[in-house]
Amino acid sequence: MIPWRGVIEEYRKFLPVSDSTPIVSLQEGNTPLVQAKRLAQRICPGIDLYLKIEGANPTGSFKDRGMTLAVSKTLEKKARAVMCASTGNTSAAAAAYGAKAGIPVYVLIPAGNIALGKLTQAIMHGAKVIQIEGNFDQALNIVKELCRDDEFELVNSINPFRLEGQKTAAMEVCDQLGKAPTVHVLPVGNAGNITAYWKGYQEYYAAGQVRSVPKMMGFQAEGAAPIVRGHVIEHPTTVASAIRIGNPASWQLAMNAVQESDGLINMVTDDEILEAYRMVAREEGIFCEPASAASVAGVMKLQAANQLLDGATVVCTLTGHGLKDPDTAMNISAQPLTVRATREEVAAVLSL
Ligand code: F0G
Repeated sequence: MIPWRGVIEEYRKFLPVSDSTPIVSLQEGNTPLVQAKRLAQRICPGIDLYLKIEGANPTGSFKDRGMTLAVSKTLEKKARAVMCASTGNTSAAAAAYGAKAGIPVYVLIPAGNIALGKLTQAIMHGAKVIQIEGNFDQALNIVKELCRDDEFELVNSINPFRLEGQKTAAMEVCDQLGKAPTVHVLPVGNAGNITAYWKGYQEYYAAGQVRSVPKMMGFQAEGAAPIVRGHVIEHPTTVASAIRIGNPASWQLAMNAVQESDGLINMVTDDEILEAYRMVAREEGIFCEPASAASVAGVMKLQAANQLLDGATVVCTLTGHGLKDPDTAMNISAQPLTVRATREEVAAVLSL
């Protein structure tokens, strides 16, 4: 078997690269698509439920798919550095791929408001991390202004190459399932990923690789749900820091994806997100980050509203790894027991 070569090589004919594009890859992609029988039994009996584990990418999130392309194209056009605003995962991916490419990386993040693991990654990979006393939306505005200069390449998802790379996840889902799902459910923050998936499904359909396309269903966090509410949220709040965004860059594109696919965008509460977060970990053995669980919380909501047809194949993308945000996990968990180091004391606390 030929080893996996990363998303650019594997999906090259669908991507805007040529022989002269220097490919920067960490062999991202090829992430597991796991059938979630126990979880389905609990939350949506009668549905064939799958989880796409994007936390299994090299930096622990789906951002790697877009970053391999964005950084490769940065080298091709000979820009000198990359820059992004981030709720954490984009900065981790930019830092890693920038390191691999040997170019400087500048990241702007909301001070004190990104998960510890993500900040650690950006620092370890040698990015210049600038914390702003503001939120993600403000950081993105600043980065957009600074990147008008050709020296700096903006690698947020308004960079079209990011979405091109991310669309490979939809193609992979089709390859793994042997068909397109009936419904694809995603968390929505800056709204790039739902846009990218829709593009991927459409292109695979047009190329004759699948016979249908799924309905795209996106879920925002209730305190950060500008698309659902129809207006910008000045001060977005949610426990799911990755999707704490009040003015998504790909707002209109996401609306198009939802309309064209006959899908929807809705919202889930923080309690619903945390319940799904815990359930995925306990029923399926998969530790995702809180924002990722918004997709599963979304399935619970769809099921409660009778919006999923019996026998449907539903794929949820779990966008990032749970270890990125150990604080949220520990905050909602009981501390482990401590006992004396004797057989009796340990035996006394066992129960089956
Ligand atoms: N899930 C995770 C784990 C994310 O990090 C993000 C976005 C999303 C979902 C939402 O995806 O923005 O394409 O709608 N994170 C960005 C970042 C904003 O800076 O890392 P989206």
